[in-house]
Amino acid sequence: MSQRSLSVIAPTYNESENIRPFIEKAKEALSRFDWEIIFVDDNSPDGTAEKAFHLSRADHRIRSITRLSDRGLAKSSIQGMLSARGELLCVMDVDGQHDPAVIQEMVERLERDGLHIVSAARRLERDQEMEGLSPLRQKLSTFGNWLSGIVLGRTLSDPLTGFFIIRRDSFLQTAPHLGDPGFKLLLDILHSNKALRHGEVPFDFGVRLHGQSKLDVYVIWKFVTFLLSKLTGGILPVSLISFLLVGGSGIFVHFAVLYAALSLMIPFAVAQTVATLTAATGNFLLNNLLTFSDRRLRGWAKLWGYLKFLVVSAVGIVANVSAATLTYERLVHVVFVATLAGIAIDTVWKFVIANRFIWK
Ligand code: GDD
Ligand code: MN
Repeated sequence: MSQRSLSVIAPTYNESENIRPFIEKAKEALSRFDWEIIFVDDNSPDGTAEKAFHLSRADHRIRSITRLSDRGLAKSSIQGMLSARGELLCVMDVDGQHDPAVIQEMVERLERDGLHIVSAARRLERDQEMEGLSPLRQKLSTFGNWLSGIVLGRTLSDPLTGFFIIRRDSFLQTAPHLGDPGFKLLLDILHSNKALRHGEVPFDFGVRLHGQSKLDVYVIWKFVTFLLSKLTGGILPVSLISFLLVGGSGIFVHFAVLYAALSLMIPFAVAQTVATLTAATGNFLLNNLLTFSDRRLRGWAKLWGYLKFLVVSAVGIVANVSAATLTYERLVHVVFVATLAGIAIDTVWKFVIANRFIWK
């Protein structure tokens, strides 16, 4: 009987110490398959790609892909999956947290129930603390599960896992519709192709062998804005949502500084100027950090971008006030609606300019 062909796609970033032990374990678990392992590395500074390359010389079933720009776990996984030769594609982490021994069980489930995709769900429902996750990560995970449930329209025990197997043809069907979900590729796949029959197999999430997790505040931010974008049916793009949230926080900053300054008996015009500048500065820094994290400005470019942002904001304020006044005088005599119209014009204006001229 011919063996099932299966490709393991392993995105890596700074995992040089983990790939050898990963290969050893995977080889054992994959002995019943016609397998290959594809490392997709984002040019890690610790030399992961170089190591993977050497290991690939020793065994032709191991391959190494290096990417030079546009870093990201989901992006790397998609690229690896598109380059794979297996009829089954398995995406998993190489840091020891995903046990290759679970693959066999996942494939059996896929075949037995005629499914298109099977994910390995971390056992989260148990009360005791999960070894692989800190208490904060567990809380975040619960929140993420809940939000994902709303977006997907059904509840999974672990929609956020990074360990799953999908049939190649199902993946190819889905791939053109995928966005950039950062770490959460499974969720995007299930959301983009509602026709996929999906099942879950529980597994014990292990402890990272060497190095540290790459999940940080940007990854979480990307995930939340990605889900919100999906909730709008994709009408509002991820970056606009991020821009809006940052802008919203700027309104709070503005009023906080304004009232603080006024309480210090600072004249209104000065207080208003200081508040506007503080809010604009905060907005610029946050957008540079979060909204445009993949095009982040540094050094002189950052200073220059900041000055441009201030000019844009100044024009925006004028546009905002005029739009509000016009709306109020010509259309509706409701202060709230008129103000909203002004803010909307200002925001769209800033977003367009920011995209085209600041974070190019
Ligand atoms: N190519 C590439 N580029 N690989 C990356 C990147 C990246 O920017 N960031 C992380 N990786 C690789 C890591 O090297 C590792 O093999 C795997 O992706 C998971 O990254 P970790 O940094 O270990 O993530 P984690 O353990 O915090 O998160 C895991 O659990 C999450 C659920 O809590 C991942 O499996 C996530 O996908 C999962 O959602
Ligand atoms: Mn990990």
